[in-house]
Amino acid sequence: MKTKVTVVGAGNVGATAAQRIVEKELADVALIDIVQGVPQGKSLDMMESAPVEKFDSKVIGSNAYDATAGSEVVVITAGLPRKPGMSRDDLVATNEGIVADVVRKVMPGSPNAILIVVSNPLDAMCEVARRVSGLPRERVFGMAGVLDSARMRWFIAEALDVSVENTHAFVLGGHGDTMVPLPRFSTVAGIPLPQLLSAEKIEAIVKRTRDGGAEIVNLLKTSAWYAPASAVVEMVDAVLRDKKKILPCAAYLQGEYGMRDVYLGVPVKLGARGVEQVIEIELTPEEKTALQKSADAVRELFGILKV
Ligand SMILES: NC(=O)c1ccc[n+]([C@@H]2O[C@H](COP(=O)([O-])OP(=O)(O)OC[C@H]3O[C@@H](n4cnc5c(N)ncnc54)[C@H](O)[C@@H]3O)[C@@H](O)[C@H]2O)c1
Repeated sequence: MKTKVTVVGAGNVGATAAQRIVEKELADVALIDIVQGVPQGKSLDMMESAPVEKFDSKVIGSNAYDATAGSEVVVITAGLPRKPGMSRDDLVATNEGIVADVVRKVMPGSPNAILIVVSNPLDAMCEVARRVSGLPRERVFGMAGVLDSARMRWFIAEALDVSVENTHAFVLGGHGDTMVPLPRFSTVAGIPLPQLLSAEKIEAIVKRTRDGGAEIVNLLKTSAWYAPASAVVEMVDAVLRDKKKILPCAAYLQGEYGMRDVYLGVPVKLGARGVEQVIEIELTPEEKTALQKSADAVRELFGILKV
């Protein structure tokens, strides 16, 4: 039997993620949306590219959930994206209802799936998916850190005029204004960033990373999708191929980093069982304070959830 991934939300992020999954032949994809015709039309268009792109994975678009049954991974991108001037948190009320509805509909056909949440505000939507699904924390986590660190890696590569492949960047915390990029754990070919760039240049990169989402929203009047789709597909790949890859993900903490009952961006080991381990690193007092602030902001949103 072929591996199946469901992507809910056939908008910018969802459709691009579906496209990348089938083009890489990672799995067949069920692409679901509430808008009639959109998942069907985008899927048909993608399949008509298959002979040229040379992939045999299938993408099936639908408004119903029958096609999703037996999925190993479910990626949730359904919901509204940001408009200029909006913070991710402004989306909480609308997207909470959407994510809860999606989880209720997808779970009966795929009770053992791993849920990867993309919808914003990310950390709060992970909590909605966890509460509604009743799944253990290993199986419900969110995509943000891979995107945030990819953005930081691009800014580092651009500043030093080196290959993106040589860069490694480290970002902790919530997916929002309290994100905590960590330059001392960011490297180029193993060399710590502070040995390569001035403090001012690093600070500019950190700020641009933190504001990376808003920079795109201001240009496009909607949120980014190419890099977000790449990021979530890297996570899907790590799970499906049991890669045990260390990636920054929004994970539900149970005592790690001195925090409990909160989703926060931390390095985790991603494999077939989902979050197989939360990797703890020693933080400076300033970094601890920044992470605590991030957790406080996430908890504030948990407080207004209705599920
Ligand atoms: N975590 C991240 O780093 C990150 C990055 C980018 C975008 N996002 C978030 O991802 C979400 C999607 O962004 P986008 O740019 O693809 O938006 P989009 O508007 O292009 O697509 C969203 C899709 O969800 C669909 N949808 C709405 N309600 C639904 C429901 N109940 N069931 C099924 N489908 C439903 C819409 O019809 C639409 O096609 C937004 O919340 C955005 O903020 C998160």
